[in-house]
Amino acid sequence: MPNHSLEEITTCVSNQDRWRSLETLNMIASENSMSKTAMNTVQSDFHHRYAEGLVGQRAYQGQKFQDQIEQITIDLTKEVFRSDFAEVRAPTATIANLALFFAFCKPKDDYFATTVPDGAHISYRKFGGAGCRSLTIHNIPYNPDKFNIDVNQFADQLLTTKPKLITLGGSVYLFPHPVTEIAKICKETNTIIHYDGSHVLGLIAGGEFQQPLQEGADILLGSTHKTFPGPQGAIIVGSNSLLQKNPKALQKIQKRIFPGLVSNHHLWRLPPLAITLLEMKQYGKEYAQKTIQNAQALGKYLDNLGIKVIAKEYGYTKSHQVVVDVKEYGGGGQAAINLENANIICNKNLLYQDDVNTALDNPSGLRIGTQELTRWGMNVKDMKSVAEFYARIIIDKESPDRIKEEITQFRQQPQFGKIRYSLDN
Ligand SMILES: Cc1ncc(COP(=O)(O)O)c(C=O)c1O
Repeated sequence: MPNHSLEEITTCVSNQDRWRSLETLNMIASENSMSKTAMNTVQSDFHHRYAEGLVGQRAYQGQKFQDQIEQITIDLTKEVFRSDFAEVRAPTATIANLALFFAFCKPKDDYFATTVPDGAHISYRKFGGAGCRSLTIHNIPYNPDKFNIDVNQFADQLLTTKPKLITLGGSVYLFPHPVTEIAKICKETNTIIHYDGSHVLGLIAGGEFQQPLQEGADILLGSTHKTFPGPQGAIIVGSNSLLQKNPKALQKIQKRIFPGLVSNHHLWRLPPLAITLLEMKQYGKEYAQKTIQNAQALGKYLDNLGIKVIAKEYGYTKSHQVVVDVKEYGGGGQAAINLENANIICNKNLLYQDDVNTALDNPSGLRIGTQELTRWGMNVKDMKSVAEFYARIIIDKESPDRIKEEITQFRQQPQFGKIRYSLDN
Protein backbone atom coordinates (compact mmCIF):
# COMPACT_ATOMS: atom_id res chain seq x y z
CA MET A 1 0.00 0.00 0.00
CA PRO A 2 1.40 3.50 -0.77
CA ASN A 3 2.00 5.58 2.34
CA HIS A 4 -0.07 8.67 1.51
CA SER A 5 0.47 11.82 3.55
CA LEU A 6 -1.52 14.92 4.39
CA GLU A 7 0.96 17.00 2.40
CA GLU A 8 0.44 14.86 -0.69
CA ILE A 9 -3.33 15.50 -0.50
CA THR A 10 -3.11 19.25 0.15
CA THR A 11 -0.51 19.63 -2.60
CA CYS A 12 -2.80 17.79 -5.02
CA VAL A 13 -5.57 20.28 -4.22
CA SER A 14 -3.36 23.33 -4.66
CA ASN A 15 -1.94 21.92 -7.91
CA GLN A 16 -5.47 21.46 -9.24
CA ASP A 17 -6.44 24.98 -8.20
CA ARG A 18 -3.39 26.52 -9.84
CA TRP A 19 -3.45 24.47 -13.05
CA ARG A 20 -7.16 24.51 -13.87
CA SER A 21 -8.03 27.95 -12.48
CA LEU A 22 -4.96 29.96 -13.41
CA GLU A 23 -3.01 28.27 -16.18
CA THR A 24 -5.37 26.47 -18.55
CA LEU A 25 -8.01 27.52 -21.04
CA ASN A 26 -10.93 25.41 -19.77
CA MET A 27 -13.15 24.62 -22.70
CA ILE A 28 -14.94 21.47 -21.54
CA ALA A 29 -18.52 22.34 -22.50
CA SER A 30 -19.99 20.86 -19.30
CA GLU A 31 -17.92 22.77 -16.75
CA ASN A 32 -17.68 26.25 -15.31
CA SER A 33 -16.25 28.29 -12.44
CA MET A 34 -18.34 29.62 -9.58
CA SER A 35 -17.95 33.19 -8.42
CA LYS A 36 -15.87 33.83 -5.28
CA THR A 37 -19.04 34.94 -3.51
CA ALA A 38 -20.71 31.61 -4.23
CA MET A 39 -17.53 29.63 -3.60
CA ASN A 40 -17.06 31.27 -0.17
CA THR A 41 -20.29 29.65 1.01
CA VAL A 42 -19.32 26.13 -0.05
CA GLN A 43 -17.49 25.55 3.22
CA SER A 44 -20.29 25.67 5.78
CA ASP A 45 -22.02 23.63 8.47
CA PHE A 46 -24.59 22.58 5.84
CA HIS A 47 -21.96 20.04 4.77
CA HIS A 48 -22.57 18.09 7.97
CA ARG A 49 -26.36 17.82 8.04
CA TYR A 50 -29.39 15.89 6.88
CA ALA A 51 -32.74 17.32 5.79
CA GLU A 52 -34.77 14.30 4.74
CA GLY A 53 -38.21 15.24 3.44
CA LEU A 54 -39.68 18.52 2.23
CA VAL A 55 -39.28 21.99 3.69
CA GLY A 56 -41.37 22.16 6.87
CA GLN A 57 -41.87 18.36 6.88
CA ARG A 58 -38.48 16.96 7.80
CA ALA A 59 -37.60 13.72 9.54
CA TYR A 60 -34.99 15.23 11.89
CA GLN A 61 -34.76 18.25 14.20
CA GLY A 62 -32.37 21.16 13.65
CA GLN A 63 -33.87 22.37 10.41
CA LYS A 64 -34.63 26.07 10.81
CA PHE A 65 -31.81 27.39 8.64
CA GLN A 66 -31.82 24.33 6.38
CA ASP A 67 -35.49 24.91 5.64
CA GLN A 68 -34.81 28.60 5.10
CA ILE A 69 -31.98 28.10 2.58
CA GLU A 70 -33.92 25.44 0.68
CA GLN A 71 -37.03 27.65 0.47
CA ILE A 72 -34.93 30.61 -0.75
CA THR A 73 -33.37 28.35 -3.40
CA ILE A 74 -36.76 27.03 -4.51
CA ASP A 75 -38.19 30.57 -4.75
CA LEU A 76 -35.23 31.87 -6.76
CA THR A 77 -35.27 28.83 -9.06
CA LYS A 78 -38.96 29.37 -9.83
CA GLU A 79 -38.33 33.03 -10.50
CA VAL A 80 -35.30 32.59 -12.77
CA PHE A 81 -36.91 29.81 -14.83
CA ARG A 82 -40.43 31.28 -14.72
CA SER A 83 -41.74 27.92 -13.55
CA ASP A 84 -44.73 26.85 -11.48
CA PHE A 85 -42.74 24.47 -9.28
CA ALA A 86 -39.12 23.69 -8.46
CA GLU A 87 -37.37 20.68 -6.93
CA VAL A 88 -33.78 21.42 -5.93
CA ARG A 89 -32.74 18.25 -4.11
CA ALA A 90 -31.32 16.12 -6.93
CA PRO A 91 -27.53 16.09 -6.48
CA THR A 92 -26.91 15.43 -10.18
CA ALA A 93 -28.86 15.64 -13.44
CA THR A 94 -28.32 11.92 -13.98
CA ILE A 95 -30.26 11.28 -10.77
CA ALA A 96 -32.89 13.86 -11.80
CA ASN A 97 -33.36 12.05 -15.12
CA LEU A 98 -33.66 8.73 -13.34
CA ALA A 99 -36.20 10.20 -10.91
CA LEU A 100 -38.41 11.16 -13.88
CA PHE A 101 -38.12 7.73 -15.49
CA PHE A 102 -39.29 6.19 -12.23
CA ALA A 103 -41.96 8.82 -11.57
CA PHE A 104 -43.69 8.56 -14.95
CA CYS A 105 -42.84 5.21 -16.54
CA LYS A 106 -43.13 1.52 -15.81
CA PRO A 107 -40.68 -1.10 -17.17
CA LYS A 108 -41.22 -1.74 -20.92
CA ASP A 109 -43.02 1.58 -21.45
CA ASP A 110 -42.26 3.22 -24.80
CA TYR A 111 -39.86 6.13 -24.51
CA PHE A 112 -38.19 8.34 -27.15
CA ALA A 113 -34.77 9.98 -27.06
CA THR A 114 -31.98 10.87 -29.49
CA THR A 115 -29.00 8.53 -29.95
CA VAL A 116 -25.56 9.37 -28.54
CA PRO A 117 -24.08 10.37 -31.94
CA ASP A 118 -27.12 12.65 -32.38
CA GLY A 119 -26.29 14.33 -29.07
CA ALA A 120 -28.01 12.27 -26.35
CA HIS A 121 -26.67 11.99 -22.84
CA ILE A 122 -26.03 8.41 -21.80
CA SER A 123 -28.88 8.62 -19.25
CA TYR A 124 -31.44 8.35 -22.05
CA ARG A 125 -29.97 5.12 -23.37
CA LYS A 126 -29.78 1.43 -22.45
CA PHE A 127 -26.60 1.79 -20.37
CA GLY A 128 -27.96 4.77 -18.41
CA GLY A 129 -31.10 5.68 -16.49
CA ALA A 130 -33.58 4.68 -19.21
CA GLY A 131 -32.03 1.21 -19.26
CA CYS A 132 -32.04 1.04 -15.44
CA ARG A 133 -35.82 1.61 -15.63
CA SER A 134 -36.05 -1.06 -18.42
CA LEU A 135 -37.78 1.35 -20.80
CA THR A 136 -38.35 0.43 -24.43
CA ILE A 137 -36.11 3.04 -26.01
CA HIS A 138 -37.01 4.39 -29.46
CA ASN A 139 -34.66 6.69 -31.38
CA ILE A 140 -36.01 10.13 -32.19
CA PRO A 141 -35.65 10.53 -35.99
CA TYR A 142 -32.81 12.92 -36.63
CA ASN A 143 -31.70 14.83 -39.72
CA PRO A 144 -27.88 15.02 -39.59
CA ASP A 145 -27.81 17.56 -42.41
CA LYS A 146 -29.87 19.97 -40.36
CA PHE A 147 -28.31 19.03 -37.01
CA ASN A 148 -31.78 18.63 -35.58
CA ILE A 149 -34.79 16.39 -35.04
CA ASP A 150 -36.86 15.43 -38.09
CA VAL A 151 -40.21 16.70 -36.81
CA ASN A 152 -42.42 15.15 -39.50
CA GLN A 153 -41.08 11.66 -39.05
CA PHE A 154 -41.15 12.07 -35.28
CA ALA A 155 -44.79 13.24 -35.39
CA ASP A 156 -45.81 10.04 -37.20
CA GLN A 157 -44.01 7.89 -34.66
CA LEU A 158 -45.46 9.77 -31.70
CA LEU A 159 -48.99 9.45 -33.01
CA THR A 160 -48.54 5.71 -33.53
CA THR A 161 -46.66 4.89 -30.33
CA LYS A 162 -48.19 7.43 -27.89
CA PRO A 163 -45.28 7.22 -25.41
CA LYS A 164 -45.71 8.41 -21.83
CA LEU A 165 -42.45 10.33 -21.88
CA ILE A 166 -39.94 11.73 -24.36
CA THR A 167 -36.65 13.54 -23.75
CA LEU A 168 -35.45 16.57 -25.68
CA GLY A 169 -32.14 18.39 -25.19
CA GLY A 170 -28.72 16.76 -25.07
CA SER A 171 -24.99 16.76 -24.49
CA VAL A 172 -23.87 17.75 -27.96
CA TYR A 173 -26.35 20.48 -28.50
CA LEU A 174 -25.73 23.19 -31.07
CA PHE A 175 -29.28 24.18 -32.08
CA PRO A 176 -32.55 24.35 -30.12
CA HIS A 177 -34.86 21.39 -30.53
CA PRO A 178 -38.29 22.21 -32.05
CA VAL A 179 -40.16 22.11 -28.73
CA THR A 180 -43.19 24.12 -29.89
CA GLU A 181 -43.93 21.79 -32.82
CA ILE A 182 -43.39 18.65 -30.77
CA ALA A 183 -45.49 19.98 -27.88
CA LYS A 184 -48.51 20.33 -30.19
CA ILE A 185 -48.31 16.63 -31.04
CA CYS A 186 -47.65 15.59 -27.44
CA LYS A 187 -50.85 17.34 -26.38
CA GLU A 188 -52.75 14.94 -28.62
CA THR A 189 -50.90 11.89 -27.34
CA ASN A 190 -50.80 13.03 -23.68
CA THR A 191 -47.02 12.57 -23.71
CA ILE A 192 -44.88 14.30 -21.09
CA ILE A 193 -42.04 16.33 -22.59
CA HIS A 194 -38.95 16.11 -20.44
CA TYR A 195 -36.38 18.67 -21.56
CA ASP A 196 -32.88 17.93 -20.32
CA GLY A 197 -31.35 21.39 -20.40
CA SER A 198 -28.21 20.37 -18.50
CA HIS A 199 -25.88 21.88 -21.06
CA VAL A 200 -27.81 25.03 -21.80
CA LEU A 201 -29.33 25.81 -18.38
CA GLY A 202 -27.33 29.03 -17.97
CA LEU A 203 -28.34 30.17 -21.44
CA ILE A 204 -31.99 29.44 -20.67
CA ALA A 205 -31.68 31.27 -17.34
CA GLY A 206 -30.29 34.25 -19.24
CA GLY A 207 -33.29 34.24 -21.59
CA GLU A 208 -31.21 33.10 -24.58
CA PHE A 209 -31.13 29.90 -26.65
CA GLN A 210 -34.73 28.67 -26.14
CA GLN A 211 -37.28 28.78 -23.32
CA PRO A 212 -38.46 25.16 -23.08
CA LEU A 213 -41.25 25.62 -20.53
CA GLN A 214 -42.72 28.58 -22.36
CA GLU A 215 -42.50 26.64 -25.66
CA GLY A 216 -44.47 23.71 -24.24
CA ALA A 217 -42.10 21.35 -22.41
CA ASP A 218 -43.64 20.02 -19.21
CA ILE A 219 -40.43 19.57 -17.27
CA LEU A 220 -37.07 21.27 -17.57
CA LEU A 221 -34.18 19.88 -15.62
CA GLY A 222 -30.48 20.34 -15.70
CA SER A 223 -27.11 20.37 -14.04
CA THR A 224 -26.34 23.56 -12.14
CA HIS A 225 -22.64 23.54 -13.08
CA LYS A 226 -22.34 23.63 -16.87
CA THR A 227 -23.44 26.84 -18.57
CA PHE A 228 -25.31 27.54 -15.35
CA PRO A 229 -22.22 28.52 -13.35
CA GLY A 230 -23.13 27.19 -9.90
CA PRO A 231 -22.18 24.29 -7.63
CA GLN A 232 -22.37 20.72 -8.91
CA GLY A 233 -25.97 19.55 -8.63
CA ALA A 234 -29.30 19.75 -10.46
CA ILE A 235 -32.69 21.39 -10.47
CA ILE A 236 -36.04 20.21 -11.82
CA VAL A 237 -38.65 22.81 -12.75
CA GLY A 238 -42.03 22.43 -14.31
CA SER A 239 -45.15 24.09 -15.52
CA ASN A 240 -48.81 23.71 -14.70
CA SER A 241 -49.24 21.97 -18.07
CA LEU A 242 -47.64 18.93 -16.46
CA LEU A 243 -50.09 19.01 -13.58
CA GLN A 244 -52.94 19.09 -16.12
CA LYS A 245 -51.54 15.98 -17.84
CA ASN A 246 -50.73 14.33 -14.55
CA PRO A 247 -52.20 15.97 -11.40
CA LYS A 248 -49.92 14.05 -8.99
CA ALA A 249 -46.77 14.72 -11.05
CA LEU A 250 -44.99 16.93 -8.54
CA GLN A 251 -45.54 14.55 -5.64
CA LYS A 252 -44.35 11.68 -7.84
CA ILE A 253 -41.12 13.50 -8.68
CA GLN A 254 -40.57 14.52 -5.07
CA LYS A 255 -41.08 10.96 -3.84
CA ARG A 256 -38.64 9.58 -6.39
CA ILE A 257 -35.97 12.03 -5.23
CA PHE A 258 -36.58 11.21 -1.55
CA PRO A 259 -36.94 8.50 -0.38
CA GLY A 260 -36.40 7.00 -3.86
CA LEU A 261 -32.91 7.99 -4.91
CA VAL A 262 -31.40 10.36 -2.36
CA SER A 263 -31.22 10.47 1.42
CA ASN A 264 -29.04 13.50 2.10
CA HIS A 265 -29.31 15.94 -0.76
CA HIS A 266 -25.92 17.61 -0.31
CA LEU A 267 -27.18 20.66 1.54
CA TRP A 268 -23.85 22.42 1.07
CA ARG A 269 -24.94 23.07 -2.56
CA LEU A 270 -27.87 25.25 -1.65
CA PRO A 271 -26.18 28.51 -0.53
CA PRO A 272 -23.88 28.71 -3.58
CA LEU A 273 -26.80 27.69 -5.81
CA ALA A 274 -28.98 30.46 -4.36
CA ILE A 275 -26.16 32.98 -4.88
CA THR A 276 -25.64 31.86 -8.48
CA LEU A 277 -29.39 32.24 -9.07
CA LEU A 278 -29.16 35.82 -7.78
CA GLU A 279 -26.21 36.40 -10.11
CA MET A 280 -28.11 35.00 -13.07
CA LYS A 281 -31.11 37.20 -12.27
CA GLN A 282 -28.87 40.23 -12.50
CA TYR A 283 -26.26 39.32 -15.12
CA GLY A 284 -27.59 36.18 -16.80
CA LYS A 285 -28.71 37.80 -20.03
CA GLU A 286 -25.38 39.48 -20.74
CA TYR A 287 -23.43 36.34 -19.79
CA ALA A 288 -25.58 34.11 -22.00
CA GLN A 289 -25.39 36.49 -24.96
CA LYS A 290 -21.60 36.84 -24.69
CA THR A 291 -21.14 33.08 -24.34
CA ILE A 292 -23.09 32.41 -27.55
CA GLN A 293 -21.35 35.26 -29.41
CA ASN A 294 -17.99 33.85 -28.35
CA ALA A 295 -18.95 30.35 -29.56
CA GLN A 296 -20.04 31.70 -32.94
CA ALA A 297 -16.86 33.77 -33.23
CA LEU A 298 -14.69 30.82 -32.28
CA GLY A 299 -16.45 28.72 -34.93
CA LYS A 300 -15.78 31.37 -37.55
CA TYR A 301 -12.11 31.85 -36.63
CA LEU A 302 -11.41 28.10 -36.50
CA ASP A 303 -13.08 27.73 -39.87
CA ASN A 304 -11.04 30.62 -41.35
CA LEU A 305 -7.88 28.93 -40.15
CA GLY A 306 -8.77 25.69 -41.94
CA ILE A 307 -10.30 23.55 -39.19
CA LYS A 308 -13.54 21.87 -40.31
CA VAL A 309 -16.31 23.26 -38.08
CA ILE A 310 -19.62 21.42 -37.99
CA ALA A 311 -22.77 23.28 -39.08
CA LYS A 312 -20.97 26.09 -40.91
CA GLU A 313 -24.03 26.58 -43.13
CA TYR A 314 -26.15 27.29 -40.04
CA GLY A 315 -23.70 29.75 -38.44
CA TYR A 316 -21.84 27.00 -36.50
CA THR A 317 -23.91 27.12 -33.31
CA LYS A 318 -26.63 28.81 -31.30
CA SER A 319 -25.33 27.51 -27.97
CA HIS A 320 -22.05 27.62 -26.04
CA GLN A 321 -20.67 24.68 -28.02
CA VAL A 322 -18.57 24.45 -31.13
CA VAL A 323 -17.97 21.02 -32.68
CA VAL A 324 -15.04 20.43 -35.03
CA ASP A 325 -14.11 17.49 -37.23
CA VAL A 326 -10.37 16.83 -36.94
CA LYS A 327 -10.29 13.37 -38.51
CA GLU A 328 -7.89 14.51 -41.23
CA TYR A 329 -5.42 15.66 -38.55
CA GLY A 330 -5.35 12.34 -36.66
CA GLY A 331 -8.71 12.39 -34.87
CA GLY A 332 -10.25 13.96 -31.77
CA GLY A 333 -8.55 11.63 -29.28
CA GLN A 334 -5.03 12.65 -30.30
CA ALA A 335 -5.99 16.30 -30.77
CA ALA A 336 -7.48 16.48 -27.25
CA ILE A 337 -4.25 15.06 -25.77
CA ASN A 338 -2.04 17.50 -27.71
CA LEU A 339 -4.28 20.39 -26.66
CA GLU A 340 -4.12 19.32 -23.02
CA ASN A 341 -0.32 19.15 -23.23
CA ALA A 342 -0.48 22.79 -24.34
CA ASN A 343 -2.89 23.70 -21.47
CA ILE A 344 -6.12 23.81 -23.51
CA ILE A 345 -8.70 21.46 -22.01
CA CYS A 346 -11.57 20.19 -24.17
CA ASN A 347 -12.94 16.75 -24.99
CA LYS A 348 -12.91 14.30 -27.88
CA ASN A 349 -16.38 13.61 -29.26
CA LEU A 350 -18.16 11.16 -31.52
CA LEU A 351 -19.47 12.71 -34.70
CA TYR A 352 -22.50 11.53 -36.61
CA GLN A 353 -20.47 9.41 -39.05
CA ASP A 354 -18.45 7.65 -36.31
CA ASP A 355 -19.07 4.03 -35.40
CA VAL A 356 -20.01 3.95 -31.70
CA ASN A 357 -18.33 0.56 -31.29
CA THR A 358 -14.94 1.36 -32.81
CA ALA A 359 -14.43 5.12 -32.63
CA LEU A 360 -14.79 5.77 -28.89
CA ASP A 361 -11.07 6.20 -28.17
CA ASN A 362 -10.30 8.33 -31.19
CA PRO A 363 -13.52 9.74 -32.65
CA SER A 364 -13.48 12.35 -35.39
CA GLY A 365 -14.55 15.31 -33.33
CA LEU A 366 -13.82 17.72 -30.53
CA ARG A 367 -16.54 19.43 -28.48
CA ILE A 368 -15.51 22.87 -27.31
CA GLY A 369 -17.36 25.22 -24.92
CA THR A 370 -16.91 28.97 -24.50
CA GLN A 371 -18.91 29.52 -21.28
CA GLU A 372 -16.03 29.38 -18.80
CA LEU A 373 -13.71 31.63 -20.82
CA THR A 374 -16.63 34.06 -21.08
CA ARG A 375 -16.98 34.02 -17.29
CA TRP A 376 -13.29 34.90 -17.03
CA GLY A 377 -13.90 37.95 -19.22
CA MET A 378 -12.94 36.79 -22.70
CA ASN A 379 -14.60 38.45 -25.69
CA VAL A 380 -14.97 37.86 -29.40
CA LYS A 381 -11.48 39.25 -30.16
CA ASP A 382 -9.95 36.83 -27.64
CA MET A 383 -11.60 33.95 -29.51
CA LYS A 384 -9.35 34.81 -32.46
CA SER A 385 -6.26 34.22 -30.32
CA VAL A 386 -7.79 31.01 -28.92
CA ALA A 387 -8.56 29.74 -32.44
CA GLU A 388 -4.95 30.45 -33.48
CA PHE A 389 -3.66 28.31 -30.62
CA TYR A 390 -5.91 25.44 -31.79
CA ALA A 391 -4.69 25.77 -35.39
CA ARG A 392 -1.02 25.81 -34.37
CA ILE A 393 -1.49 22.62 -32.35
CA ILE A 394 -3.87 20.73 -34.65
CA ILE A 395 -2.88 21.82 -38.17
CA ASP A 396 0.71 23.07 -37.83
CA LYS A 397 1.56 20.34 -35.30
CA GLU A 398 3.68 22.76 -33.27
CA SER A 399 5.09 21.16 -30.16
CA PRO A 400 2.53 21.54 -27.32
CA ASP A 401 5.40 22.08 -24.88
CA ARG A 402 6.53 25.15 -26.79
CA ILE A 403 3.06 26.71 -26.97
CA LYS A 404 2.10 25.88 -23.39
CA GLU A 405 4.03 28.81 -21.91
CA GLU A 406 2.40 31.22 -24.36
CA ILE A 407 -1.05 29.92 -23.50
CA THR A 408 -0.40 30.24 -19.78
CA GLN A 409 0.72 33.84 -20.29
CA PHE A 410 -2.37 34.54 -22.41
CA ARG A 411 -4.60 33.09 -19.65
CA GLN A 412 -2.83 35.09 -16.94
CA GLN A 413 -3.41 38.52 -18.46
CA PRO A 414 -4.84 40.82 -15.77
CA GLN A 415 -8.14 41.33 -17.62
CA PHE A 416 -8.90 37.62 -17.17
CA GLY A 417 -8.17 37.70 -13.45
CA LYS A 418 -11.67 37.65 -12.04
CA ILE A 419 -15.04 36.09 -12.69
CA ARG A 420 -17.54 38.37 -14.48
CA TYR A 421 -21.34 38.36 -14.31
CA SER A 422 -21.14 37.75 -10.57
CA LEU A 423 -21.70 39.45 -7.21
CA ASP A 424 -17.95 39.44 -6.54
CA ASN A 425 -17.59 43.24 -6.48
C1 LIG B 1 -27.57 16.51 -21.36
C2 LIG B 1 -26.97 15.99 -20.10
N1 LIG B 1 -27.79 15.52 -19.16
C3 LIG B 1 -27.32 15.04 -18.00
C4 LIG B 1 -25.98 15.04 -17.72
C5 LIG B 1 -25.51 14.52 -16.42
O1 LIG B 1 -25.16 15.56 -15.59
P1 LIG B 1 -24.69 15.34 -14.09
O2 LIG B 1 -23.23 15.29 -14.14
O3 LIG B 1 -25.25 16.52 -13.36
O4 LIG B 1 -25.28 14.05 -13.63
C6 LIG B 1 -25.08 15.53 -18.66
C7 LIG B 1 -23.64 15.53 -18.36
O5 LIG B 1 -22.78 15.97 -18.99
C8 LIG B 1 -25.59 16.02 -19.89
O6 LIG B 1 -24.77 16.47 -20.84
